Amino acid sequence: MPVSRYKSEDVGREPLHQPLAFAFSKRIAQNRLLKAAMEERLAIWDDEILVNRGLPTKELIELYRWYKNGWGIIVTGNIITDYCHVAGSGDQIITPESPCFGERFESFKALATAAKAQGSLIIHWAGQPSWSSTPQFGNWTFGAPRAATEQDISRIITGFAHAAQYLEKAGFDGINLHAAHGYLVAQFLSPRTNKRTDAYGGTLTNRMRLIVEVVQEIRSRVSPSFIVSVKLNSTDFQEDGFKPHEARELVGVLQDDVGLDFVELSGGTYEHVGLEWTKESTRQREAFFLEFAEMIVPVLGAERKTKVFITGGLRSVGAMVKALDVVDGVGLARPAAQEPRLAANIIEGKVDGVIRPLAPFDTAGLGMLAAGMQMRQTAHGVEPFDMSDSEVVKTLLEMVNEMRKADENKVEDVEVVEFPDWIRNSKSYGVAE
Ligand SMILES: Cc1cc2nc3c(=O)[nH]c(=O)nc-3n(C[C@H](O)[C@H](O)[C@H](O)COP(=O)(O)O)c2cc1C
Repeated sequence: MPVSRYKSEDVGREPLHQPLAFAFSKRIAQNRLLKAAMEERLAIWDDEILVNRGLPTKELIELYRWYKNGWGIIVTGNIITDYCHVAGSGDQIITPESPCFGERFESFKALATAAKAQGSLIIHWAGQPSWSSTPQFGNWTFGAPRAATEQDISRIITGFAHAAQYLEKAGFDGINLHAAHGYLVAQFLSPRTNKRTDAYGGTLTNRMRLIVEVVQEIRSRVSPSFIVSVKLNSTDFQEDGFKPHEARELVGVLQDDVGLDFVELSGGTYEHVGLEWTKESTRQREAFFLEFAEMIVPVLGAERKTKVFITGGLRSVGAMVKALDVVDGVGLARPAAQEPRLAANIIEGKVDGVIRPLAPFDTAGLGMLAAGMQMRQTAHGVEPFDMSDSEVVKTLLEMVNEMRKADENKVEDVEVVEFPDWIRNSKSYGVAE
């Protein structure tokens, strides 16, 4: 059965082909397409021996071998800087104690080599979930928060800075620090979660202190050509959360004071995910956060040394090209899980819209689950299932209902899960559509 795709306005795709030069690192992305971060949960997990956790597996490396074609920038999924406070089992881990040699280091090197074989820049995403670290399918619960001590803050800064140094030595071109979606750095930024009364809480200057110090420490440890970027919420969608005008001020500081190469604008938290279209006007523009980007970008001035990407909701070449009127590049996540060759196909003019998942897999929760399963398939050398196929969706829904039933009987307050396997009835990866 032929796949069903989003329709696109008939526009020239040349703006997407343009290389993008980063003013601070002086590196160049070969085009404007960015494969956005998706937690793969494919690294090693050991229930008991902590130091065995977080090494990239051969399957994870295989996944990135398939992403090597066509993307200007490839952003990986999670690196966590702690063995215990993970977002999910199978997250990649680099702690401040991880040495730049040995098995872990070699597997990160292999991942970087696989991903950048065709000229993409490979950037590792780094985040720390903190209280948002309890992923249980369909039932997000959170641990009780506590204020970070001075020692904690120092370890957070060292953790990210060491990860950046480590990644550079392993062959990565840059780091993408997670300051979005309610992860730890975002918790410092948001007045909803930051109730501190010291130098890290209260005014926006204080709430942004952690991110500024992290970026400064990274910059002091890596070479000038290492790309330093941040994934930032343009809005939390919460009355008492981080607001677009605060994001605008922060982006200005990140350009003028710390020389950030690019900011990737996103939005929402695990309390209000925001990764689906709610208004008709947003559905038309596809990009979830473009109106916020329009408010934020002008602070960077005409020269715009810090480049801006927008991620979320983009599905057609027409909408991607239009977004480039506002920002410098576009990020794609779920479509990249469905079609790892997507960037090459867009650049070469083979497709002008991504595969359109059937409801209810076009929503945030089920869409993310399906994307996780698809990455797992690709990692095992299997073509991702086609979410526009009604038979696939029927089978997936049956599976989801089984999982929901199983979840109802769980009582543990911390449950880490892998994305489930579904590799039956699939053809080998690489067979033409
Ligand atoms: C399976 C999955 C895992 C994700 N994991 C991360 C993550 O680890 N870090 C992150 O910043 N965003 C993560 N995201 C969010 C995406 O990077 C992106 O912001 C979001 O999916 C919206 O883009 P899209 O509409 O193109 O999918 C994840 C998304 C999916 C589908």
